[in-house]
Amino acid sequence: MKVAAIVGSIRQDSYNLKIARYIQNRYKSLFQLDILNIRDLPFYDQDIEFAPPQPVIDFKTQVAAADAVLWVTPEYNSTIPGVLANAIDWLSRVDRVMIGKPSWIVGSSMGLLGSVKAQGHLRDVLFSSGISSPLLPGNEVYIGLVHEKIDEKGELTDEPTIKYLDLVADNFVTWMKEVGKLGGKANV
Ligand code: FNR
Repeated sequence: MKVAAIVGSIRQDSYNLKIARYIQNRYKSLFQLDILNIRDLPFYDQDIEFAPPQPVIDFKTQVAAADAVLWVTPEYNSTIPGVLANAIDWLSRVDRVMIGKPSWIVGSSMGLLGSVKAQGHLRDVLFSSGISSPLLPGNEVYIGLVHEKIDEKGELTDEPTIKYLDLVADNFVTWMKEVGKLGGKANV
């Protein structure tokens, strides 16, 4: 199973990127996780959506080739970061590669609530008509105070979080197999 990870922070030391890498490594026997580059995407522009620059073509091609998408996002000003909204705008147009493709959301922030508001907004966006992505029900992962849960090597060290992620990763794979049988149409 191939999963594409879209991380809502483009900073080099991003905690969310570290979590995506942690998931990539820890669950490699369950799925192959490819972390996609959204840093080089230009601002979405309807004037060029039918002939977009190469980074957009590459990004959409990778999403289209994946069996599912894992969104790993922080919260900016109580919602999803602009870079993530921009990536979603590209995905929602022309070939609309997200339609029917299953999603799993994980998020972390330095605040106590671990990106809960951003994830609520992201959930709504995933159900919008240009995206229409079935989302893993329940299994919500809010990693608050993330700076206290990752060590200097970038490893997640918080045991309760790790244990919960193990459970959710298993649930994701089980659910994905069911969604596959439904042709990616569960809860769209
Ligand atoms: C934040 N941060 C933040 N945290 C939070 O819990 N709720 C919020 O609304 C915001 N808003 C916000 C806006 C902006 C512009 C920045 C730069 C930061 C703090 C945020 O959780 C923290 O910077 C994370 O470390 C960002 O994630 P990455 O880059 O480490 O993945």
